[in-house]
Amino acid sequence: MTPLLARPLIETKRDGGRLGPTDWRRLMAAYAAGEVPDYQMAALAMAIYFRGLDRDETHALTDAMLRSGATLDLTHLGRPRIDKHSTGGVGDKVSLVLAPLIASLGVAVPMMSGRGLGHTGGTLDKLEAIPGFRTGLSLTEATRQLEQLDCALIGQTGEIAPADRKLYALRDATGTVESIPLISASIMSKKLAEGLTGLVLDVKYGSGAFLPERDRGLELARTMIELGADHGCPVIALLTAMDRPLGRACGNAVEVEESIMALRGEGPPDLMRVTYALGAEMLLLAGTVRDRDEARRRMEVAISSGRAAERFARIIEAQGGDPRVVDDPGLLPEAAECEVYLAPRAGVIAEVRPREIGHGIIALGGGRTRVEDVVDPSVGFVITARPGDVVRAGEPLATIYARDDAGVAAGRAALAAAIRVADEAAPPLPLIAHRITEAGVEDYDEG
Ligand code: URA
Repeated sequence: MTPLLARPLIETKRDGGRLGPTDWRRLMAAYAAGEVPDYQMAALAMAIYFRGLDRDETHALTDAMLRSGATLDLTHLGRPRIDKHSTGGVGDKVSLVLAPLIASLGVAVPMMSGRGLGHTGGTLDKLEAIPGFRTGLSLTEATRQLEQLDCALIGQTGEIAPADRKLYALRDATGTVESIPLISASIMSKKLAEGLTGLVLDVKYGSGAFLPERDRGLELARTMIELGADHGCPVIALLTAMDRPLGRACGNAVEVEESIMALRGEGPPDLMRVTYALGAEMLLLAGTVRDRDEARRRMEVAISSGRAAERFARIIEAQGGDPRVVDDPGLLPEAAECEVYLAPRAGVIAEVRPREIGHGIIALGGGRTRVEDVVDPSVGFVITARPGDVVRAGEPLATIYARDDAGVAAGRAALAAAIRVADEAAPPLPLIAHRITEAGVEDYDEG
């Protein structure tokens, strides 16, 4: 360990100074190599959280994290390579639907995802709810799968942006997630390592987002778009609502089931709207459609023909999972206990708070409080109540899936904190508020 390398750099950031590209590169390479201890990196992350990074430093940190590992060269595929990434939400299973859907339309989707972070869920944890599914593919395996199926759903191996892998887990444990430069560098170092020809970002805003305020969400989007442009990767972002969970299912296995339903054309309307909106941007970036209407039609046909669901089954099989779950979601892990949660009074659903739901999933054992925690894929919630619904006292609002009675009680407490029934309710945030490109911000018109 070389704590002396990091200490003056931490002090510089603590005091509001700037670090140059060489400092960032040495620091991140040393951190990835285990030569800078976590306690120093945690102190640096906190200094960044409070002091921020300017554009050049954010660029240098992203570059340093990107260069801490290998990058994928997929030019030989001869097809557009487009990924999408969300800044994190609750019930956000869009990646599970979108990756096979877009791959079934002839665009390569090298999707590298993360695990649950804070109160938000992670695509890798969801995929691993599928019996046998392996997210830890090597880059060689991922490349081979992309050649055959146009899609690989992978986690960060030791090879890709290893500095981010370590820092991501450390930030989760040290209260340093909610920082625009840290989120931007984390997401973009992974995405730029994928050798993409374009990237679509789903930037969340609202109470359940890491950055709840709309303006901070827009700034995050602009920062990542700039980082993409600096690296020759076109990036488009949509700002979408996370003041309520997306879809009905929140938890790992239940979200996989809802994704399968979506791929079969039976997904909840809000999930489908966000999926189609992001998918259209992916197809536009790929240059395979003329406009959003054509994109939408092609996605609908991929779903109604069964092509997208079939592609998901093939991806699952290629990654060691049981492809039969696509026809029979009953093969997914099932919770031992389930209980219906009833409306405590008559009124209007004023809120379904995502943070409380996310923390509830963790309390049930479906997320982590420590990096080494093992996730129980079977637990979670299916919440049918939506903000604005008028309900009678005693009407079912949600179902709790738990492993034992204590879990059911924790689930009940989480739902009581999350679901507010009142006499009246303000309207929820617009589901898709803005489209952000290098040219600027526009209101999103779903047409
Ligand atoms: N997703 C990431 O990959 N990193 C973050 O910091 C937040 C969301």
